[in-house]
Amino acid sequence: MKKLTKPWAGRFSDTLSKSAEEFTSSVHFDVRLYKQDIVQSIAYARTLLKVNILSAAECKKIIQALEQIMKEIGSGKTKLQTEYEDVHMNIEALLIGKVGEMGKKLHAGRSRNDQVATDMRMYLKYEATEIVLAIKKVQTVLLDLAEKHLKVIMPGYTHLQRAQPIVFSHHLMAYYEMLERDKKRFLAAGEAADVMPLGSGALAGTAFNIDRAGLAKELGFAKISNNSMDAVADRDFATDFTYACAMLMQHFSRLSEELIIWSTYEFNFIELSDKYTTGSSIMPQKKNPDICELTRGRVGRVYGSLTTLLTLMKGLPLAYNRDLQEDKEVVFTAVDTVKGVLDIFPPMLATMKVNTEVMTAAARKGFLTATDLAYYLVRRGVPFRDAHSIVGKIVAYCEESNMQLEYLSLKQLKQFSEAFTYDVTRYLSAESSLANRDLPGGTAISRVKEAIKRGRKNLLHDKA
Ligand code: ARG
Repeated sequence: MKKLTKPWAGRFSDTLSKSAEEFTSSVHFDVRLYKQDIVQSIAYARTLLKVNILSAAECKKIIQALEQIMKEIGSGKTKLQTEYEDVHMNIEALLIGKVGEMGKKLHAGRSRNDQVATDMRMYLKYEATEIVLAIKKVQTVLLDLAEKHLKVIMPGYTHLQRAQPIVFSHHLMAYYEMLERDKKRFLAAGEAADVMPLGSGALAGTAFNIDRAGLAKELGFAKISNNSMDAVADRDFATDFTYACAMLMQHFSRLSEELIIWSTYEFNFIELSDKYTTGSSIMPQKKNPDICELTRGRVGRVYGSLTTLLTLMKGLPLAYNRDLQEDKEVVFTAVDTVKGVLDIFPPMLATMKVNTEVMTAAARKGFLTATDLAYYLVRRGVPFRDAHSIVGKIVAYCEESNMQLEYLSLKQLKQFSEAFTYDVTRYLSAESSLANRDLPGGTAISRVKEAIKRGRKNLLHDKA
């Protein structure tokens, strides 16, 4: 008879083939959950003591051994083995190795199904908090930059064509807002994860009358799950979290795209620091925005994670299926990618050089105040559609004669509409265009200043 080592080997008469073992093993990635798994097991041991499955002495010994195992895995002294399939069974095997027979008692009433769901929820709760803090760091840098460039006029774009004058700070604060929504999504994802499945057993609930509420309290969960089948089969929380990651990456990808465009020779609005750019192995003049490009590129991984989770779940019958093991790597990838981006952006943004004169000069070319000129006519009683058409003709005239709007004389303007009077020139500058956007959410400097102030206050007081 072969020696059968698996904890589940009782009903088997042959051993698992090496290839099947490798195919099914998850330990090379779920080792990441070892701390959560051990903390959970320690709390569970205390619960088993309360229902007399463990004696006080056994409970104490088990806890001591688990703490020891945590240190040993952390220091790299103990390596987990493929043979034991996943992090849960590795830790159990290590425990039995340390305390002998009594270690075999710990799994009573528990299943890896509720165990892994609990680990993942603990892990994502923690990561959500970490990510929220990291988002706040980026927001702080954006506020600093916005404050510093409050009066820097630049062209605002639609269709990547010069559209209307804005201040650079307004542009930066747009990203602050995106990150504010990201933060809320991560807080919500953390809340979604804050429900404890432990006590659901394999699917039907635990046959021992354990104190789930007490266990949840000890593990720092706000709630316990209501339905044991849902609890072991649910990965909504992981999907919510990954969706938050995907949206955050989308925002950083858009910012990256703008930084890439702005740092081209053609735009020259900014220059990224040497510390955050790389050179070319062939072209000596090159200074490439690789961090931005990689951020834009890595969105693919995170969207991939979200797609994987959505696809993974769509046809699964209740309750646990091994497919669910596939949730981990993609969630870990999303977490790592997001944290990497959040780490590198604050110093990269803080050290970039802003070519304010180039930006402002760009805002003075390209008829950016054409809309303001049309609004001037509207204020003089011309219907907007007519005003639009009149100014369109003026722009065409300027283009033909290589002129800018602000250099047109009243006489020239009057040829297009009698409604123009002497005060029109006041409406033709980028400054006046900005000043006119003086309403909540607008780019008037006073409004942007207010937005920055609100942003600072918000960062101080929000609950994260
Ligand atoms: N490694 C598994 C996972 O990540 C743990 C649960 C395994 N349960 C089972 N019945 N095979 O999902």
